[in-house]
Amino acid sequence: MSNDEFKREAANAAVERYVESGMAVGLGTGTTATLAVRRIGELIASGDLRDVSGVPTSARTMALANEVGIPLATLSDTRPHLTIDGTDEVAPDLALIKGRGGALLREKIVASSSEEGLIVVADSTKVVDSLGVGPLPVEIDSFGWQATLEALASLGCEPELRMDQADPDHPFVTDGGHYTADCKFDSISDPASLEIEIKRIPGALECGLFISIARTAIIAGESGTRSIEAVLR
Ligand code: A5P
Repeated sequence: MSNDEFKREAANAAVERYVESGMAVGLGTGTTATLAVRRIGELIASGDLRDVSGVPTSARTMALANEVGIPLATLSDTRPHLTIDGTDEVAPDLALIKGRGGALLREKIVASSSEEGLIVVADSTKVVDSLGVGPLPVEIDSFGWQATLEALASLGCEPELRMDQADPDHPFVTDGGHYTADCKFDSISDPASLEIEIKRIPGALECGLFISIARTAIIAGESGTRSIEAVLR
C-alpha cells in the first residue's frame, strides 16, 4: 500500500472509532485530516452519523466540510468533543510537531479546547524517536518579523521565513494574517522547555510543538494500524 492509503486507513479508523452522533468534532488541516473530514461527510450522508457538527481549523477545511455536508460550528457556539488532525512528527510520548501545512495556531486553539483532546492520524513515516527531524514551524506576527527571526535564532536554530509556494516572492500568510518561521534545530531534547522559551519572544504567537495535547495516535503502515495512547500525568 502507498502512504496515501495508510493515511486513509488511519483517518477512517479514527472517525469510525471515535466520532459518534451528536458530537461537535474539531476538524484538522492537511492531507490526512482531509481524509477524516471526507469520511465524516460520507457517514453523515449514509445516515450512520447524525447531528454531528465540525469546528474547522482553517479556511481550506471549512470549504471541504461545506462541500461534504458537515454542518459547521465555531468556538463561539461550542467546544469540540474531540479533534482529529494529522501531524508532521509524532514522538513515542505523543509530543508532536505540527504546522508544516500552515495552520498551527488555529489547530492548537481547537485541539486544546477539545474536551477529550486530540486524536492524531498519520502514516508511519511521521513516527520519530525524538522531535526535530525536520523544521519546527512558528507562527509569528508580520510586524518586525526580522527581529523575531533573530530572537528565534538565538535559541539555537536556523529560522527561515516561509514563502508562499504560489507566489514565491512573498511570504506565506496564514488564515490569521501572520507569517511563519520554519526553525531547524539540530535536535530538540526538551520540547516543553523549548515551547516556553519560544513563547517568551513577543513576536512569536505560537509554535508547532504540541505537548500533552494528543491523547491517542492512530498510525498506519506496512505492519498494520496501531494506536498509541498518551500516558496521563
Ligand atoms: C497543518 O498545519 C499541519 O499541522 C498538518 O496537520 C500536518 O502538516 C500534517 O499534514 P499532512 O497530513 O498533510 O502530512
